[in-house]
Amino acid sequence: MLAQVSPWYAHAAQRLATAPAHALVPPARMEWSTHPGLGPGAEILSRDLRGKRLLELGCGPGHNVAHLARHHQARVTGIDLVGLQVRRARSHYGHIEGATFTAGHALHYLQATGQTFDAIYSVFGAVGLVAPELLFAAISRHLVPCGVLAFSVPHPARAGRHPSTDDRPREDYVTMPDRTRLPIARWEYDAHRWATHLSRTGLQITSAIELRHPRLDPWPTTLLITARKR
Ligand SMILES: C[S@@+](CC[C@H](N)C(=O)[O-])C[C@H]1O[C@@H](n2cnc3c(N)ncnc32)[C@H](O)[C@@H]1O
Repeated sequence: MLAQVSPWYAHAAQRLATAPAHALVPPARMEWSTHPGLGPGAEILSRDLRGKRLLELGCGPGHNVAHLARHHQARVTGIDLVGLQVRRARSHYGHIEGATFTAGHALHYLQATGQTFDAIYSVFGAVGLVAPELLFAAISRHLVPCGVLAFSVPHPARAGRHPSTDDRPREDYVTMPDRTRLPIARWEYDAHRWATHLSRTGLQITSAIELRHPRLDPWPTTLLITARKR
């Protein structure tokens, strides 16, 4: 029988094998794209994040969690599906006050927790990788009134692709540290389709920003959406 490892687990295992995790200084800026310095930073979550409760869905190595806890004094929980990633995040940033890392599926975590959050966000994380109708309903239930959801996803028109014309996920790839690729399913909506799905769960889209590096990218590479709980 063919045994399959989750691409996200394989990615974390390869990364840890090549670069063991050690304590890091939190980055000075929150990043929503793969180009440092491009587009907005943490201000789209709230102008004042001090003491706010934030949740990242798919935090990976935890750079943004650490930034928000250290530079904005927010209380931030990062969830990641892969225990190895959580171990890596804790090795990097476990010493940062206000930063907590937990292993689990974003949807299961939201279904189980009794907490509410001032903002929930995802940076190429669980939003786009989990059925939106299920994930947005769970997110909406755990946001305070007027709470913010912000997420960045690979742009649906990157590299000559086209946004989905229906609600189903499409095949995409995770690129491993050694440049091999493993297939995943991804929901690839344009801003209009995201807005429709958000509105079904009481979330109102407030902005859709296309990010493209002016010199390096011939196409927009990232779509950054913000929404507010009604
Ligand atoms: C492309 S990485 C982004 C990591 C991080 N947000 C960053 O910007 O560095 C995607 C992460 O989402 C995690 N992930 C994938 N599906 C998930 C799910 N259903 N629930 C929680 N995390 C998930 C993966 O394990 C991986 O660490």
